[in-house]
Amino acid sequence: MKRLAARLRALAPDSLFARLTLILLAGLAAAQFLSAMLTIEERNDASMGAMIDYVEVDLRTAVALLDRLPHDERAAWLPRLQRGGYRYALGAGEAGPPVTAPHSLRLLASVRRALTPGHAFNANALAGDAERFQVHVPLADGQPLTVDFRPRRGLPLSERLPYMLAAQLALVALACWLAVRLAIRPLRTLAQAADALGPDLRPVRMPEQGPSEVVAAARAFNAMQQRIAAYVDERLRILAAISHDLQTPITRMRLRVDLMDESPQQQRLIDDLQHLEDLARQGIGYARAMHGQLEAARAIDPNDLLDAMALDYRDSGADVAYASAGGAPVLTPFCTRPGALRRVVTNLVDNGLKYASEVRIEMERAAPELITIRVLDRGPGIPEAALEQVFEPFYRLESSRNRDTGGTGLGLAIARQLALTLGGGLTLHNRPGGGLEARLVLRAVQPKVNA
Ligand SMILES: Nc1ncnc2c1ncn2[C@@H]1O[C@H](COP(=O)(O)OP(=O)(O)OP(=O)(O)O)[C@@H](O)[C@H]1O
Ligand SMILES: [Mg+2]
Repeated sequence: MKRLAARLRALAPDSLFARLTLILLAGLAAAQFLSAMLTIEERNDASMGAMIDYVEVDLRTAVALLDRLPHDERAAWLPRLQRGGYRYALGAGEAGPPVTAPHSLRLLASVRRALTPGHAFNANALAGDAERFQVHVPLADGQPLTVDFRPRRGLPLSERLPYMLAAQLALVALACWLAVRLAIRPLRTLAQAADALGPDLRPVRMPEQGPSEVVAAARAFNAMQQRIAAYVDERLRILAAISHDLQTPITRMRLRVDLMDESPQQQRLIDDLQHLEDLARQGIGYARAMHGQLEAARAIDPNDLLDAMALDYRDSGADVAYASAGGAPVLTPFCTRPGALRRVVTNLVDNGLKYASEVRIEMERAAPELITIRVLDRGPGIPEAALEQVFEPFYRLESSRNRDTGGTGLGLAIARQLALTLGGGLTLHNRPGGGLEARLVLRAVQPKVNA
């Protein structure tokens, strides 16, 4: 039973739309088929009843007429007496097995009522044709008469019936499709609105119109969106405020430490303050990235930007190389937010430099509005299970919780957030042969100024 259910589930189409349409259509088609069968059955039954009543009267009249006709005139009358379901013949007819078919038995009862009392008769079915039977009745002067019955199952069906049924079915299918579409549409809108609640957390309101249930769901969804946006906004403001306000006491402490005598203690304090300052800066960066304080998009040549970045790194002694994949230059400008892009790539390159001695940046333009930037290193990579977790704010692998590679754990979170606001995505992949590949896919953004 469980297996059957599982198999049925596997066969069911994926979308709710297809499932509902299928269930409604199958149910209605089956009901329609059953009611058509019932009507035909009723109709056959009624026509059979009428025929039986008719046969009784007709047979009695025919036999009485033949009884009274002179011997030589009977044959000429026979064609006039015959009906659709039975015909007369003068003669002994054929022998055969007893009558057993249900329709034949009903007709036979009617024959019995027509011929008794007055005429002795016998009846038999015909070998090979269970539905056909003959009644043998001797006429008044002893001449044998045979009535050959071919009971018909019912009245013939109208030629238009299949077309009418097909038209009915088409109508039912259309009604199902319309009804299901009506029921599913709000779900689709809801999914789109939920999807549109993008990284910048700007709520896209769902239209509050349509049937009352849909309006209620849309209102609840819109209210929820607004609450989420308000919560996140409030938290980010707090984070930004704390990070910002931390900078003043840190600066003051720095000044004081600078006045101290040079000692290992002083150096440690300077390092700690540096770390604190980084934290505060990253906090502000994260809040800004999340809050969508986006710069205006403009057309740039990403080749130039990445090349200049690699050059800056090399100037400061880091081994960072840039290559446009296949050496193909980007001919047309690409519309993006250069500050955000620079920030993402910097975070990725900085990570790479923490774990490897050299980092390579590659760029590939898949389509005019789509580029892929890869930041590659030959460091230790990241365990497969943690490839997604490292994007969570403050998540850092155990191995990097030391001073040398120590950071705040916000770099990747900020980078992904910015990548989303750049209309793209950021993923990490372990490279064959060791090392990490940070893959940044960017879509050209509309060159409009964001408030
Ligand atoms: N190229 C890499 N090779 C190996 N591990 C990496 C690499 N990049 C990131 N990681 C791991 O992912 C973690 C999260 O990276 P993320 O950039 O978010 O934080 P961080 O570099 O530790 O700190 P921050 O960037 O905020 O100064 C790192 O702590 C490290 O464990
Ligand atoms: Mg980092």
